[in-house]
Amino acid sequence: MRWRWMLVGWLALALPAAAAPKDDPPPDWAFVVAKVLPGSPFKGTVTVPGSALRIDAKVLDDPAREPDWFPQDHATMPDVVAHGRPPKLFACAFCHLPNGVGGPDSAAITGLSASYIEREFAEFRSGRRGCAIPKGAQCSGAMHDEAAAVMADELKAAAAYFASQTYVSRIKVVEAATVPKTKVEFYSLVRDGTGSEPIGNRILEVPDDARLFWLGDWRAPVIAYVPPGSIARGRALVESGDGAAPCAVCHGAKLQGSAIAPPLAGRSPTYIVRQLYNMQHGFRTGPAVAQMLPEVAHMTPSDRIAIAAYLASMK
Ligand code: HEC
Ligand code: HEC
Repeated sequence: MRWRWMLVGWLALALPAAAAPKDDPPPDWAFVVAKVLPGSPFKGTVTVPGSALRIDAKVLDDPAREPDWFPQDHATMPDVVAHGRPPKLFACAFCHLPNGVGGPDSAAITGLSASYIEREFAEFRSGRRGCAIPKGAQCSGAMHDEAAAVMADELKAAAAYFASQTYVSRIKVVEAATVPKTKVEFYSLVRDGTGSEPIGNRILEVPDDARLFWLGDWRAPVIAYVPPGSIARGRALVESGDGAAPCAVCHGAKLQGSAIAPPLAGRSPTYIVRQLYNMQHGFRTGPAVAQMLPEVAHMTPSDRIAIAAYLASMK
């Protein structure tokens, strides 16, 4: 886990290529700005339900030793995924977890094609893949550092590994008019325990159990609260393309990816919103993204929410 990394990793970010429009600012629930709390919440020996592994809580701080709670859930990790190359290259597992399932703060990279993964590293490296928030958000900064440090053979091994794994979503999408109040702790929204409030025009993606989430337990569910009616509305937008091509034309019939475009089904809705926003407003650019521009050109904030809610709800 990432208490120490938060202090160093997000500070060296590329300047944003574009400016966020005033009438459509980057939503703070999708571009969560990490909040550094004093120290790790864990002491002594820790474990998670169903795992035989017991570790010293100090290990959680080490970007070369993300705990592998359930080795039976994935193939043997190549060295770059499990350990990285200290001190420059962090282990992929540190942020994406050993099986690549990630969280709202990173991305699910399980089941992406190897060629797409390699292309995205080139895009991060070139700066064409950036972020609407220049500092402190769970966005492209960490990946710029990774892309600058990774060597070609390491990237090949990591890409082949994640491409070979089957993605199983741990996200539960719940339509709700009223949601628990939330706050930012470390790099994630969590319930703050002080009651509830209207959801408004937001998606709130919160770990069901923040403690397990921070320990990197990928079997622990993440709840995505979405506005009532958004799944059905999102489905209509995705299936029609809303004036542009239907998403399935490029992303595959069940939106599970194709030779041209990555999978979308079951992926984190706040991750999806970040990408749609970044592409629409010029923070994620490049030749491949050009195909997405007619799709995002007229999206409203509620369209992005509805589309992300529907995509995340797909199995
Ligand atoms: C320090 C944290 C961190 C580490 C270490 C890290 N990543 Fe990431 N990665 C992220 C974040 C955060 C994002 C989401 C960026 C965004 O929202 O645009 C991301 C996004 C990605 C994406 C884009 C996913 C998509 O669907 O386009 C790929 C691919 C990826 N990472 C692969 C890797 C690989 C392979 C490694 C190891 C070599 C790695 N990452 C190491 C934090 C990290
Ligand atoms: C004409 C082809 C095409 C169509 C139609 C299309 N996309 Fe895409 N989409 C792409 C390509 C290509 C990429 C990868 C861009 C890159 O490599 O950076 C992409 C990337 C994305 C991403 C980022 C995924 C990630 O892992 O980071 C999202 C989200 C997305 N598309 C959503 C949609 C939605 C929603 C629709 C329908 C409204 C749609 N796309 C329709 C071609 C298309």
